Amino acid sequence: MADIEPVAIVELGVDDALAGLALSTEARWNQNEADWRFFLTNGIVFGVRDGPHLVATAALLPYSAGNAWISMVLVTERWRRRGIATRLVDACLDAARQRGLTTWLDATPAGASVYGPLGFTPTLQLRRLRLEHPSHEASTALATSDIDTFSARDRRAMGFERNALLAEFGARTGSRILSQGNATALVRDGRTARHIGPLFADSATDALALVGAIGRTERSPLLIDAIASQEPFIAGLTGAGWNIERPFQRMRFGRATTQSEELPFAVAGPEFG
Ligand SMILES: CC(C)(COP(=O)(O)OP(=O)(O)OC[C@H]1O[C@@H](n2cnc3c(N)ncnc32)[C@H](O)[C@@H]1OP(=O)(O)O)[C@@H](O)C(=O)NCCC(=O)NCCS
Repeated sequence: MADIEPVAIVELGVDDALAGLALSTEARWNQNEADWRFFLTNGIVFGVRDGPHLVATAALLPYSAGNAWISMVLVTERWRRRGIATRLVDACLDAARQRGLTTWLDATPAGASVYGPLGFTPTLQLRRLRLEHPSHEASTALATSDIDTFSARDRRAMGFERNALLAEFGARTGSRILSQGNATALVRDGRTARHIGPLFADSATDALALVGAIGRTERSPLLIDAIASQEPFIAGLTGAGWNIERPFQRMRFGRATTQSEELPFAVAGPEFG
């Protein structure tokens, strides 16, 4: 049993963006300052401080139609195994309960062992893949897609809209919404790698063709959070030099609220769903 410390849980504000970034960087995650600003502006982010230093966080990001994502559950190494993550996730669940929200999250293996006992149940699995050296070719160009068409497809996949998130992603310097045939994906900056996702396509062949084409337009390392059941897609990626870095387990707390009409090939990221 974790030794529950009498630590104070506080609600964080946008001024905590760099302190939050230090925690996700310590865990070698890919979030950048813009991601933290989005959580701190649009979500409810709880934290624990040791004097002036932020030592732990957890965020609740309300979306639409009674759904919210929990993420950025981070505890600095020295403060782990004292029940802090459990208390922070509990604070997120309380905030969700007060607002009548069903909560979702994509857990790392360490995170899943915190969330299971709290009552989260597993749904689908993800695989994070990384391509260290995209085969950049100067001459490659890809069609771009508009944010409204992309958001409509995301809504069919999620079962609810998250237009504010996608609009913010799309407006960032370095973001692109790219299409080839029926396949379309959002590419955005991260701390150490560019991230591809969400990615929608009618077939694994089309999804792989788009990822291949994106790779030919990129110079930085790339990440994809693929849906594990899209096996031919993942096999195609590993065959093309992508490495599986880690699994994530999607989990839900509360009743099922969504009806997905399309299974994506890759998601926006474990922190965003
Ligand atoms: C995962 C993490 C947030 C846990 O924080 P924490 O404050 O140490 O968690 P808690 O003390 O509340 O742990 C509660 C229980 O979860 C389980 N647990 C926590 N971390 C675990 C680990 N690394 N391995 C196995 N079980 C673990 C244990 O059962 C623990 O109870 P116990 O200490 O009595 O055995 C922290 O290790 C971390 O920041 N890791 C890196 C980032 C990360 O993976 N975040 C989760 C994202 S989904």
